Amino acid sequence: MCRPPASGIWLLTNLLLHILGLSCTTASFGPQPETTVLTPGSIPIDTDGNQVHAHGGALIEMDGIFFWYGTSQKQPPGWLSTDINLYSSEDLAEWRNEGSIFNWQSIVGMPTGPPYRIERPKIIWCEEFHYWVLWFHLDLPSFGYPAVGVAKAETLQGPFDFVQVFKPDGRSSFDMTLFQDDDDTAYLVRSVENSFLGITKLAPNYLGLEGGICAQTPFQAEAPAVFKHGPSSYWILSSHLTGWAPNPPLLWHANSSEGLCGTSWYLMPQPATGPGSETTWDSQSTAVFPYQTEDGRELLMYLGDRWNAAGPGGVAQAGYVWLPLIPTAAPSQVILADS
Ligand code: GAL
Repeated sequence: MCRPPASGIWLLTNLLLHILGLSCTTASFGPQPETTVLTPGSIPIDTDGNQVHAHGGALIEMDGIFFWYGTSQKQPPGWLSTDINLYSSEDLAEWRNEGSIFNWQSIVGMPTGPPYRIERPKIIWCEEFHYWVLWFHLDLPSFGYPAVGVAKAETLQGPFDFVQVFKPDGRSSFDMTLFQDDDDTAYLVRSVENSFLGITKLAPNYLGLEGGICAQTPFQAEAPAVFKHGPSSYWILSSHLTGWAPNPPLLWHANSSEGLCGTSWYLMPQPATGPGSETTWDSQSTAVFPYQTEDGRELLMYLGDRWNAAGPGGVAQAGYVWLPLIPTAAPSQVILADS
């Protein structure tokens, strides 16, 4: 029998093991289970024996295969990534390198040539036009041209063709994410001028925007990760603005029959407590993955980056922290669980 959960990280591991039908080997309060989805803060080693570098990205599940994408290993000066990498897995534990799906050499329309800052890539499928779209924070290394980059590809394995760079509403755009609702309406959620999170609908072809900001948070936040829990209950998990250094999580909520737009976003009580929560267990949000179990249940997985700015190797050795997000009934809240 597996031991009871001592931490959220362990809980996530074992919920997934349970869901995936994998076994955990230990008796009562013994050592960690044999198969671990992700050791907190670590960098997994792929099937070629190399570190997995997929930072600021997200997971996609397709036909029983999990795909993990994100930016390539960050390099000094400025901790820049040249590529967006893709990995695949059947069990969220063993990862195959599917290679680079986008490289900064294909970017046109910036004030200068590379190097660029490409961060926080997010990919969604456009059913109407049958392609994948990739949006990311595109900038100069100095953060001197904060914009979004858009690319598209017929397969998730790419390569993604660059479409455009632009500043939504002509305003600076920093950390960003995409959210695709059940009706395929998609949204860009980004830090506008480092002052608030602004939400704008994507155009039907997902290659640009439709209209201006339709809703926003009342004050600044970054590292947005959007999820839905319940028919009209929307959430944004995010962070404060402290660069690569970790800080406590910020959680926003909206009840809306109109998706992310036309609604007010309210700041919820801090969704994490206890030792480590003041730094979100040394991590910053990048995505929330709604893991679907075979019997129709949903396990919300928080995906975060441990940037390691002050650690050995700096941001080049950034790792990952995945935690369960536990919905509570009364008062309605979502708790990021570690203990
Ligand atoms: C953070 C941001 C990261 C990265 C970092 C650079 O605020 O979330 O994506 O841009 O700043 O300092």
